[in-house]
Amino acid sequence: MTTQAYRCRRAVGGAAEGRALVADTRISFWGGFDPVTGRIVEVGNPLEGECVTGKVVVFRSTKGSSGTSRMLRLANISGKAPVAFINTELDELSVLACVAQRLPLVTDLECDPFESIRTGDVVKVDADRGIVQVTSADDRPPKSDHKTTDGPRTPMGLTDNQQKVLDGADGPVRAEHLRCLIEWGEALGAERLVPVENVMPSGLYVPNHSLGNAPFELIERSMEYSRSCVAETVQMTATCHASCMDLERPEQFGADLRQVPTQRELLDRARQSGISMTWTCAPYLVGNIPVKGQICAWTESHAVVYINSFLGARTTRHGNESATAAAVTGWVPEFGVLRTENRRARLLIEVEATLTNDTDWGCLGFFVGKAAGLRIPALTGLRPPRLEAARQLCAALATSGGAPMLHIVGVTPEAPTMNDAFQGQAPDETVTFGPAELADVYESLRTHTGPEIDFVYFGCPHASLQEVVEIAHALRGKQVHADVTMLISMPYAIEMQGRRLGFVQEIEQAGGTIMTDSCPTNALWRYPKRMATPAIKTGFYAQNLLGCEAVLAPMEDCVRVATSARWHEPR
Ligand code: F3S
Repeated sequence: MTTQAYRCRRAVGGAAEGRALVADTRISFWGGFDPVTGRIVEVGNPLEGECVTGKVVVFRSTKGSSGTSRMLRLANISGKAPVAFINTELDELSVLACVAQRLPLVTDLECDPFESIRTGDVVKVDADRGIVQVTSADDRPPKSDHKTTDGPRTPMGLTDNQQKVLDGADGPVRAEHLRCLIEWGEALGAERLVPVENVMPSGLYVPNHSLGNAPFELIERSMEYSRSCVAETVQMTATCHASCMDLERPEQFGADLRQVPTQRELLDRARQSGISMTWTCAPYLVGNIPVKGQICAWTESHAVVYINSFLGARTTRHGNESATAAAVTGWVPEFGVLRTENRRARLLIEVEATLTNDTDWGCLGFFVGKAAGLRIPALTGLRPPRLEAARQLCAALATSGGAPMLHIVGVTPEAPTMNDAFQGQAPDETVTFGPAELADVYESLRTHTGPEIDFVYFGCPHASLQEVVEIAHALRGKQVHADVTMLISMPYAIEMQGRRLGFVQEIEQAGGTIMTDSCPTNALWRYPKRMATPAIKTGFYAQNLLGCEAVLAPMEDCVRVATSARWHEPR
């Protein structure tokens, strides 16, 4: 047995001890983790099936959804949380989850943790002293070949007003929210807090079936937190993320009806606090459209990429805790893409494939997200995409990677030229996306083992009015097959508009089903066997969240599948 101590850098303070769980991988805690059992459920992840409860989890970084902090909060409530994180790349969502759940998080070990720590070792993490102690059963020579940096953790400079709020002048709730923002920002190198004007929190709903088989009591306990999120007055543009329940049709989608009054209570409380409960992942479809340069605090991962990349607004990737704290205090820590120098592209993607539909754009995003990781990519060879294609690009990028934005040269407001995208510097790497790569993404996301399809899903991210119009057109003169559920999720406002124009009725008369406020991955009410969808994000999470096989295909093909209940391989 050997014991070796390594120096490291504190990201989030505290101390903890546990057995190590180690893999050089990125983890999406939303969709890839079950907070009720504490297990990693992402199919194909090296940690698939492993339990994080009580463990020191050693991994590269988080990826994907903004729901990481929400999932770890639920794991904490159910007693299934890990005790500490060791990350080799520091990302904002991992840091936020640890700040909110008071888990120690360290990075920059003086060794390669994937070589020096093995699953099953006993690991003591003392983040405050910057020490990780590893006790292993075998004789393992110590390796200290990495440089540990002290930065970027310097105390943030606060204005007199901010200091007063931190000292409790505006009450303990605001002080606690500010503490969270300061700790989060300091870990990520922020030197100051800046005013925020537009927020999108994500925890303003009853979790409902998003927790699989979570007991009602666990959901009830998590509500204390949701209520606290709407306890303070908010004085800025504030719309909230999608919910786990279609409040218009709770029975139809099998919601636990005991939770409906709580959902309505949240709606009332939010109205009083000044938050618009739009319950959509796509606030820009319902009038919350930030302008260039506006500082925002948005949660939904695709929307973060969309407003940074296509509107020129500025938001880092937020979890609910930080977006709520921003709403309550009016400040956010200035780090990451809030600063111009950090919006510089690092990776060049030369697009040679011809993109003929929105799903093709999603495939591009999935490829780029994987290649980029946390780096900001710049894409060349593209014409300006329509809104629906841009959203698929952003959603897919945020599914396979963790970059908060991308540049399309000639399209992104601050990247009229390559030189602007790279801020006068050279790319670290150049990668090509050609027809073969496009075909590979389609193939990699097709998990079906047969042609019969029982579920066709549109509306991830939430459908725009244009998508509703196009689906209605594609269905004209046809009928959804009796063996198929064809579902479209959209914001309530889009449903109302689509109804006034008659498109929603056309879809319903053809056998389609509308869901508002939510989506199947949030409000799972049935377990399909095999799904067809044009949405990369849903296709990717289908196995983990819906437990079904998936076929990824453009909208028109999906409509054909909906009317025939069969997938026909393209020639
Ligand atoms: Fe929106 Fe649900 Fe997709 S919240 S982005 S439709 S997974």
